[in-house]
Amino acid sequence: MKSFFKNNGRRFLSALLMIALTVCLVSCGTVETSDVKRLKLGVVIYDEGDLFLKEITDELIAQAKKRSKTSGEKLQITVSVRYARSKQNIQDDQVEDLIDNGCNVLAVNLVDRNDPMDIIDMAKKNNIPVIFFNRELVLQDLNRWNGLYYVGARAAQSGQIQGQECVEYLKQHPEVDRNHDGKIQYVVLRGEINHQDAIIRTDRSINTILDNGIPLDKLSYEVANWSRLQAENKMNQLLESYGNSIELVLCNNDDMALGVLDALQKRNLSRTSYPVIFGVDGAKEVLSDIKKGLIQGTVYNDGKTQADKVMDIAVRAFEGKDLRGLSMTDGKSTYVDYQKVTIDNVDQFLSLK
Ligand code: GAL
Ligand code: CA
Repeated sequence: MKSFFKNNGRRFLSALLMIALTVCLVSCGTVETSDVKRLKLGVVIYDEGDLFLKEITDELIAQAKKRSKTSGEKLQITVSVRYARSKQNIQDDQVEDLIDNGCNVLAVNLVDRNDPMDIIDMAKKNNIPVIFFNRELVLQDLNRWNGLYYVGARAAQSGQIQGQECVEYLKQHPEVDRNHDGKIQYVVLRGEINHQDAIIRTDRSINTILDNGIPLDKLSYEVANWSRLQAENKMNQLLESYGNSIELVLCNNDDMALGVLDALQKRNLSRTSYPVIFGVDGAKEVLSDIKKGLIQGTVYNDGKTQADKVMDIAVRAFEGKDLRGLSMTDGKSTYVDYQKVTIDNVDQFLSLK
């Protein structure tokens, strides 16, 4: 009698367990197939060594985690990143590969902003929305298909702010004109030769200074491709040629401003013979150099907000939602404002890093 109950009790228990397991499998299976939406974002970046793009990429990954979590895991966002070693054909292959691997939205930082056609064709054929960012393609290409978007910032605004910072500084510090000739001897360290930010930032910055009545004397323009190391080498050459007659260095980005400073510091020059230096981006190291008085200004390029906008568009396009709520220019482009950073407000930006 005792063993009868024992055996049947066991059977009853295992039957219960089986039922529980089946219920769980069925319900888990249901969540798996119908409730969870999987956004697979393929991110391609023109080059791995770019500091500002690293900030954007890190933020995209952080946003994916955050948004998956706040959706209660109903929307799962995964991010796959590829770097193109500054070759458009490599990037085109990477996009093909990402599409083959099931990516359903693309975020593209073009190598060559004039050559987006292969990517656009592949995206259109597979009906995959593309958010281009940071390297702006021409409007005609952006308008080739309605699944194409752009997120970036206005290059002219960054040049204008850099020029204004420089004007204010020079007005307050007449000693910058070290040789007292009434003109400011200057050099420019430029980003990539065809990049809109390099061309427009330089033009706007110089013209803003001239428009404010400050006479400039151009010594040299050097291309250093946004790179700290290349800028250090170029600055060394410039110092060989012009010695301490360089009074002002305008840099198209902060990494190059850091390279300029590396060159000056390695030569053990006295601080009084340093030129004044301006950058763009708001890199953490530059912010602390502004605080130390080694760099006089930068222009904050808000990578976090840009990544946030890329993700907003990615999610809505993936869900097939109306994008009008995102108030984009012509329904396609979003530009995030640049901000002035000098010794007067640098603390506010340091706290963001
Ligand atoms: C600029 C940025 C540079 C570099 C470049 C790459 O907007 O200021 O530091 O990242 O984009 O396209
Ligand atoms: Ca001078």
